[in-house]
Amino acid sequence: MADERNRLIHTFGALAELGEEVSNKQSFQDTMRTSLHLLLGSLAIMRGGVARYSPFGHELNMLAMRGFRDDFPIALSLCQEDERQFLANGLYPIEVSQAKVLPFFQVYDHSFEQSGLELFVPLVVHEEPVGAVFLGQKATGEPYTSYDREIICAMARHIGVAILQRNMMAELERRAEENRKLYENLRMTYNDTVKAFAAAIDRKDKYTEGHSVRVGKYSEIIAEELGWKEQEVEGAAVAGYLHDIGKITVERKIINAPYRINAKESSELNKHPGVGYEILMPISHPYSDVPLAAKYHHERLDGRGYPDGLFDREIPYIAKIVNLADSFDAMTTDRPYKRRRPANEVFADLQRNSGKQFAPEIVQAFFKGMYNELTGVSKEKRFRRLLGREYMETEGIIPMLTNAMNGIAPASNLTFLH
Ligand SMILES: [Fe+2]
Repeated sequence: MADERNRLIHTFGALAELGEEVSNKQSFQDTMRTSLHLLLGSLAIMRGGVARYSPFGHELNMLAMRGFRDDFPIALSLCQEDERQFLANGLYPIEVSQAKVLPFFQVYDHSFEQSGLELFVPLVVHEEPVGAVFLGQKATGEPYTSYDREIICAMARHIGVAILQRNMMAELERRAEENRKLYENLRMTYNDTVKAFAAAIDRKDKYTEGHSVRVGKYSEIIAEELGWKEQEVEGAAVAGYLHDIGKITVERKIINAPYRINAKESSELNKHPGVGYEILMPISHPYSDVPLAAKYHHERLDGRGYPDGLFDREIPYIAKIVNLADSFDAMTTDRPYKRRRPANEVFADLQRNSGKQFAPEIVQAFFKGMYNELTGVSKEKRFRRLLGREYMETEGIIPMLTNAMNGIAPASNLTFLH
């Protein structure tokens, strides 16, 4: 009776240890090796092995072995009949000496005999074959009792579940990787398309070549300085690239007029935000605010913009970013009827119009980006590429910029009459 009780305690101990082992975060190979040792140790079995079932190769691949001869096969093929039988058998140990009817035991008869194999346990979990356990004889030389078989069965289930979990994990990882690649492809295609569109818009306007691309880049810098997440920064860039897409329906001669356009032409041109919105709206963008940027990039905080004359809080944030990027590029590039403006004038203009046209914190973020590049805090030379080296080397540009930054009123001081 005491013996029985001790055995029970011992068995529970071994099972608990095995459970702990298979839920450990160590490598799968190690888990299998330790599990095998626990199983062999708990019943004092001399030799044994654990194999994983490969449904593709229809074979058992050895994961861990102990005490087997070196020439024991590491991959054992199964035929249909073997698989059918093992599945039907479930987790119960099969006596190798009595199982010679199956092709599996005939094919490997020699190896099994050489390694002194006594029991073979198919690992079947949720009616799925996941592997097998091979066991040699007990150290005492006594035959396996039905009690031993129960223990083997319980421990084999643990090992089977661990293999199944590992299989499911591998499958999940494979699918996640596949999805990641698909998504990456889609994103690249989308971004390439956006850039192609930006180039197409810019081609139409011969005086402002590269405008959309630059506005995209400036918007990206602002979003970065505002601390946006990577995907949102990308969204801001896309919004910049596409903000003028509505211009593709505006007559070329209005866009390219080498003079200040008249009121009628102006009202024609001013339709481009609405048209842009209509073009972009039906497309499902990875960044939902892209159409809004097109529609409201000519709005101003003080309500004097177009098309809807929205006030500060009514204007989508992304549109405020693109508005600043757009205005900055207009000021710093040559137009048919006016030259680009010098840095001091541009900074003063942005500062003066903070809170009127532009959101102060967005101007601040933009200035900060430029300041970081000028002072070498940021190693990237983006402004230099976009504005030209000469412009960025304007005499006294850093104090000019610092002055403008200091002169921006905080957003909370601003009030508007609606
Ligand atoms: Fe525009």
